[in-house]
Order: sequence, then C-alpha cells, then structure tokens
Amino acid sequence: MTDSLSRLAVLASGGGSNLQSIIDHFDALGPDAPARVALVVSDRESAGALARARTHDIPAEWLPRERNAELSALLTAHRITHVALAGYLRLVPADVVASFRGRLLNVHPALLPAFGGPGMYGHQVHEAVLRAGATVSGPTVHFVSEKYDEGAIIAQWRVPVRTDDTPSTLARRVLAAEHFIYPRCIAAVCAGHTTLSADGTASGIPTFHVDRAPSDTVA
Ligand code: GRF
Repeated sequence: MTDSLSRLAVLASGGGSNLQSIIDHFDALGPDAPARVALVVSDRESAGALARARTHDIPAEWLPRERNAELSALLTAHRITHVALAGYLRLVPADVVASFRGRLLNVHPALLPAFGGPGMYGHQVHEAVLRAGATVSGPTVHFVSEKYDEGAIIAQWRVPVRTDDTPSTLARRVLAAEHFIYPRCIAAVCAGHTTLSADGTASGIPTFHVDRAPSDTVA
C-alpha cells in the first residue's frame, strides 16, 4: 500500500460488524483497494469495533461524549481523507460534516426516506418497519449532510420482510445486506467513482453483482 491510498476513518459505537466487512472487502481487493482503514473511533470505550481495530493493527481511539468536538482534530492528526459511519450514535460535529462533504458516508438499516430521522436507529427501525406492515426493507447508504438521514442516497438494497419476521430476524437479514453494499459504496467513493454532485445528488452510482449478494437478502 502506498500513501496515495485514501485513508478511511470508521466511526462506530457497537460491535463493528460493518467495520469488519469493510476491512475484509479491502483485503479481498488487495492491490486494487482504493483505501485503507487508517483509524477507528468510538464514543464507547468497550465497543467491539475498537477491539476489532486493534486486532488488525488499526489505530483505535476512544472519544468520549464530552470530547466529541475534538473529532475534527483527531481526523486531521491521522490524515484522514474519508469517513464512514457504521452504527455511530453520536452526532457528527458540524465542522466535520462541512469539511468532509462528499467524503462522509453513513449506512441506515431501512429504505430512506422511510423509517429515518432522529431517534430512528437500531431496533426501533425494524420495529417500525414491521409495525407499518412493510413487505420490503433493506439498507440505505448515503452521503451525510447537516440533516439527519437526509443526505444524497448512494445505494439501497431491497430485502424481503417475511410474515414471521421479528425485529431481530429482520435486523439480521438487513445487516447481511449492509455488509454487502456498504464496503462497495465506500470503495466507489474512495476511488472517486461515486461523487456528490453540485446539485446535491450522488452520481456514478456503484453497481452490484446480485449473484454475490447473500441469497436471503434479495427481494
Ligand atoms: C447496523 O445495523 C447499522 O445499520 C446501524 O448500526 C448497526 C451497526 O452494527 N447504523 P455493527 O456495529 O456494524 O455491527
């Protein structure tokens, strides 16, 4: 790997399965990987994401809630070029949103604009989907803007909702789809193939090979 690679920071509050999928995808791309994970940040000291980072010799930083405003300086210190939120429960400071515009992504576990907005995270999302009687759900990858869950959509993946689904079974299937599309979207943005246009939409949308997707995630 050379220094011309994009340097990705992954911000995560939880177990870090999305982080793992990103690491694994870049590993699988080998010399074709457009980026490397250069930093993992969590607001929770015990987050599994930090442990996973250390396992892979990736710098892992605990940024407690009261030091949230230091995020920008931390990203600068690690020469970060792109940021991926992966289950990060803290608000990203406005200066970071502004300076990483078009290089800051998030994955949401429902088909935005439905089932998004403040308070819609984790199991609340899947409970709301089931309560509404939706027959299809699935993850959305989007650029992050100032407005919660409203940035330009890069990709979505339709996952069937089964009549016997519980929030947990649906969450598991949607998470498998996240692991499929999120690393590919991140790679496309880091490579410059997918960009945020001046009109506020995403262009150069990544394509996915359906035959490589986990089979029970295809609607
Ligand atoms: C995922 O469901 C993601 O959609 C949401 O938070 C969860 C993160 O899980 N934003 P993990 O920590 O990556 O396993």
